[in-house]
Amino acid sequence: MDFKDQVVLITGASSGIGKATALAFAERGAKVVIADISEQESQATLKDIQARSADSLFIPCNVADSGSVQNLVRQTVTRFGRIDVAFNNAGIGGASAHTEDYPEQEWHNVISTNLTGVFLCMKYELLEMKKAKRGCIINNSSVLGKVGFMGSAGYVAASHGVIGITQTAALEFAPLGIRVNAVCPSFTETPMLSRAGLDRDDQLHHAVANMHAMKRMAKPEEVPGAVMWLASEHASFVTGHSLVIDGGYLAQ
Ligand SMILES: NC(=O)c1ccc[n+]([C@@H]2O[C@H](COP(=O)([O-])OP(=O)(O)OC[C@H]3O[C@@H](n4cnc5c(N)ncnc54)[C@H](O)[C@@H]3O)[C@@H](O)[C@H]2O)c1
Repeated sequence: MDFKDQVVLITGASSGIGKATALAFAERGAKVVIADISEQESQATLKDIQARSADSLFIPCNVADSGSVQNLVRQTVTRFGRIDVAFNNAGIGGASAHTEDYPEQEWHNVISTNLTGVFLCMKYELLEMKKAKRGCIINNSSVLGKVGFMGSAGYVAASHGVIGITQTAALEFAPLGIRVNAVCPSFTETPMLSRAGLDRDDQLHHAVANMHAMKRMAKPEEVPGAVMWLASEHASFVTGHSLVIDGGYLAQ
C-alpha cells in the first residue's frame, strides 16, 4: 500500500498503537500529523517519524476539548490543505472496578476521552472532508466495543459508542464517497496495558493472553495493517464496518 503525499492525521500517536500506525504510514510516504496530549513523548516519536517522512509534524491536542480539536484540524489544513486519512485513536483505559464500585469521575474521564474525543475529532474532520469532497476516517474502538468485560464499564461503554457513531457517520457520508470505519483490536501490548499492571504480573499476563484463541496478546505493529487497508483503495467499498484484530478472541 502506498500513501505517498497523503495527509494522515493520527491522534494518540506518541505511544502504542497510534505510534506504530504513524510509523507505518510514514514508511509508505504519507505526511503524518501526530496529535497527542503528551508533548514530551510526542517530540521523541516525531523524530522517528520524520526519519521516514520529513514532512510530518506534531500538534499538541487534548481530544476531549473541542477548542483543542478545532485547533488541530485548522492547523493541519493550514499546513497541508486537506486531511486524506484520519485515525482517531487517542484513548485511556480507565478504572478497573465492578460497576457498583466504578468511580463516577473515572466514568466521565473515559467517556470524555474515548467517546466524546472520537465524536469531536470526527465532527471537525468531516467538516473539512465535506468541503474537500474526499477523505476517510478510521476510529479505534476495541473488541470490548462488541462484548462486555468485567470491571470496565466506562471503557466498554465508550468502545460500543465508538462503533455506533462510526456507523452513523458512515451512513451520513456514504453518498459523498467519504468512508468511515473502525478497528477493534483485542488486548495489545502497549503502555496502556503496562499501566494496568500486565507486565508486572505474570499470572495476569498469562490469563489475559489465554483469553485469545492464539494464546497471546497483539503487538502494536499488528494493528496498522488493518488501519492502512481500511484507508486504502483496496477497501473502496467498505464503510460502516468494525474490523476485529483479535487473535480469535471473539471467535470462541
Ligand atoms: N492496548 C490495548 O489492549 C487496546 C485494545 C483495543 C483498543 N485500544 C485502544 O487503542 C487506543 C490506543 O491505545 P494504546 O494501547 O496504544 O495506549 P497508549 O497509552 O500506548 O497510547 C494512547 C495515547 O493516547 C494519548 N492520549 C490519552 N489521552 C489523550 C487525550 N485526551 N488527547 C490526546 N491524546 C491522548 C496518550 O498520551 C498516548 O500517547 C486507545 O483508544 C485504546 O482504547 C487499546
